[in-house]
Amino acid sequence: MGKFRIRGGRRLEGDIRVIGAKNAILPILAAVILTRKTVVLYDFPRLADVENMLLILQSIGCQVKREGTTLIVDPSNVNSWVIPDRHVKEIRSSIVMLGAVLARMKKAKITYPGGCEIGQRPINLHLHGLRQLGVIIDESHGYLECEAANMVGADIHLDYPSVGATENIMLAATCAKGRTIIRNAAKEPEIIDLQNFINSMGGKVHGAGSNTIIIDGVDSFHETEYTVIPDRIVAGTYLMAAAITGSELVVHNVNLEHIQSIVTKLRESGCMITPYKGTDAGAVKIKAPQRLWAIEHTKTYPYPGFPTDMQALLMSVLTVAKGTSIITENIFENRFKHVPELIRMGANIRTEGKIAVIQGVPVLKGAEVSASDLRGGAALVIAGLKAEGETIVDNIHHIERGYENLDLCLRSIGADIERI
Ligand code: UD1
Repeated sequence: MGKFRIRGGRRLEGDIRVIGAKNAILPILAAVILTRKTVVLYDFPRLADVENMLLILQSIGCQVKREGTTLIVDPSNVNSWVIPDRHVKEIRSSIVMLGAVLARMKKAKITYPGGCEIGQRPINLHLHGLRQLGVIIDESHGYLECEAANMVGADIHLDYPSVGATENIMLAATCAKGRTIIRNAAKEPEIIDLQNFINSMGGKVHGAGSNTIIIDGVDSFHETEYTVIPDRIVAGTYLMAAAITGSELVVHNVNLEHIQSIVTKLRESGCMITPYKGTDAGAVKIKAPQRLWAIEHTKTYPYPGFPTDMQALLMSVLTVAKGTSIITENIFENRFKHVPELIRMGANIRTEGKIAVIQGVPVLKGAEVSASDLRGGAALVIAGLKAEGETIVDNIHHIERGYENLDLCLRSIGADIERI
């Protein structure tokens, strides 16, 4: 198990580029098996979650080849509808394979994914939508065994705009007979990217990004070459790293619209964030003040609200802001595991239920802390960049699920961080 050693107190400066979005790539990798033709994906990151998804694709018959940051998949020989347990346990979001395998193989078997570090994570909405398409689902002995011989388009209303459920239903519906409408669908940019990817192979999906998505089933898909959108949470992480350290940074490969809610909060705390008019159109510049201001109240919501995936990172920033801030976590019930670790570093935080009250302190102190989930772990790293002295962040395998070479990236802009 690796650790990061961080010596805090350094300003960051320079330019940094954001990689392709993990949460866009995972459903896109599932969608690859809709076609029997070659798929080429550009700007493809090396992340533990993505590697696991590639193992799933290989286990059901895909051939996968990497050339630098390009991934080439040959899905012509997909021959299995059983998704191996060990990968589902490694990566919970592999549940999105269910819709894709049903579309391709007309049946699927997958172990029930169960809860994880940040909450219970039920899949009732996924199953509700698939059943409405005519999928017969047998839930027994911890497995889902599904038959989809006659999938027919349906009008599906989601009780909640779940990202995973929207993606799973979109994937299955691409091969259902006729038209499917998903109402109260998730509106995340990653959903739009999945739509665009499916359409680049000859699919007929529209409406993604609004709360109604329409999918017309098609008989076959062709080959495609596709570049995934930049990772808005990684972009947000670099902006938060600049904010907490009072730095000036240019972040490249960013879609400003995707990070509006994050930018708004950072501006409220006193940061100047402007589109960067350099050679790269998709870049932003951040200039953070010496001491940030507290932010009265931040509530996490589905997109375009403030993302739950940024909650821990914003909290780290607010630990050293002037005044009292409040954060309400509305999406996941167990997403404050970073709080005791930040307190070990000298933060003043109280939590009650889904509310955290953060009283800003002038300094954080380096400490030995442990990551217990992906974004909570990244939050400890940026707190370490600010803290006086040495911080050790343990259990960084959680962080490596979603950040490629975070230590090298942060070092390239002046941080004192190494993997030990
Ligand atoms: C995705 C993201 C994750 C992000 C989350 C919310 C990926 C791979 N992961 O996760 O990083 O934090 O969106 O933006 O894209 N729920 C149900 N029943 C369901 C499905 C969800 O009750 O069938 C609940 C969940 O418990 C949770 C909420 O809905 O409280 C949001 O979950 P969802 O939008 O599905 O998130 P994921 O797709 O799992």
